[in-house]
Amino acid sequence: MVALNRQDGDRSHAEEQLRALLDAVPTALLLVDPEGTIRYANDRAASVFGYPRADMDGRAIAQLLPDLGVVVRPRGAPTWAEQTQPLPGHDPQGRRRGGDHFPAEVMVNRVDLDGRMHRVVAVNDLTDKRNAEQEIAFERESMAHMSRVTLVGEISGSLAHELNQPLAAILSNAQAALRILRRDPGEIADIREILEDIVENDQRAGEVIRRLRGLLRRECRSFGPLVVDEMVHDSIRIIRNDLINRGVEYRLDLRAPISRVHGDTVQLQQVLLNLILNACDAMADSPQRVLTLCTHAPSTDVIRVEVRDTGPGIAPDRLDAIFAPFQTSKPNGLGMGLAICRTLLRAHGASIEAANLPGGGAVFCIDLPILE
Ligand SMILES: Nc1ncnc2c1ncn2[C@@H]1O[C@H](COP(=O)(O)OP(=O)(O)OP(=O)(O)O)[C@@H](O)[C@H]1O
Ligand SMILES: [Mg+2]
Repeated sequence: MVALNRQDGDRSHAEEQLRALLDAVPTALLLVDPEGTIRYANDRAASVFGYPRADMDGRAIAQLLPDLGVVVRPRGAPTWAEQTQPLPGHDPQGRRRGGDHFPAEVMVNRVDLDGRMHRVVAVNDLTDKRNAEQEIAFERESMAHMSRVTLVGEISGSLAHELNQPLAAILSNAQAALRILRRDPGEIADIREILEDIVENDQRAGEVIRRLRGLLRRECRSFGPLVVDEMVHDSIRIIRNDLINRGVEYRLDLRAPISRVHGDTVQLQQVLLNLILNACDAMADSPQRVLTLCTHAPSTDVIRVEVRDTGPGIAPDRLDAIFAPFQTSKPNGLGMGLAICRTLLRAHGASIEAANLPGGGAVFCIDLPILE
């Protein structure tokens, strides 16, 4: 008897130690019988699910973890069945006393007790982790403005980039004017045209700087309704001389004469000029150099602008990468043109994508949301 008592005493001591150990585990632990009834819960489980410790035993696991697979037996008796993992496509949710749900990480293991297959269910409450993630996401969003400041780097690059074309045009026009004046000071009409071109390009350079400063200061004042086809026409007019000099033939297929978008003409022209210059660069060594600009409305709320060329196209594995800053395949390229295009288009709620044409060449598609 004495020996037996001691054995009993030993066992209850061991049990006590085991319970103390399980209660010290910072994860909620539940022992669940084959019918899906909780047979043991540690301290953490009681506090996570919000029940007094004594109220945990005997509860249905489905009440606490409704997402876990509980399969109904043919006889109709629900059983905590073979399925041990959360239903696919579900983020497991725990249900606290009172009905509140919380995000949970759930692990299930089998354990054979008295010849019956039980489950040990370990549950971690992810509420704090998710809150922290949300906070980070919020901070990330409030950094959207900060990213404009990061954009300063991009913008200084962009200034260098965008001013290059008009400044080069001013220079070559001024040089041409000088040459003409030296040769025959009488050709006033040509000189006037050239000087007008210089003035226009100079104004555009100034305007580019002004709008970029506005972008930094979060200004949207220069946004207004504009007709896309007119904007495309204006872009071609600005770049026409470059096209002639580079031996590029251009075709216009503008089918959105009345469609208007809400935007900034100068910024959208910048986008088109970048795409056109890229197309010209790509076609530099091509026997046939045709640039095609199309506009059309693929649906009632979108107007699409396409810039096509007859160059070598873009390596398929670079199609996404080319929009990132400093991605260039050109010895003198900055790799900023397309990054700027994407930034400017995002400010318009527009998207840009690149693709290769079946017959060769590349196409850049811009989808702008239609006004009204
Ligand atoms: N129409 C095109 N056909 C083929 N490749 C193109 C075309 N447009 C762009 N690319 C590729 O994408 C890269 C990135 O273009 P992006 O305009 O951003 O920079 P870049 O033209 O190289 O330099 P820059 O900063 O002077 O514009 C180019 O270097 C080129 O490899
Ligand atoms: Mg470029």
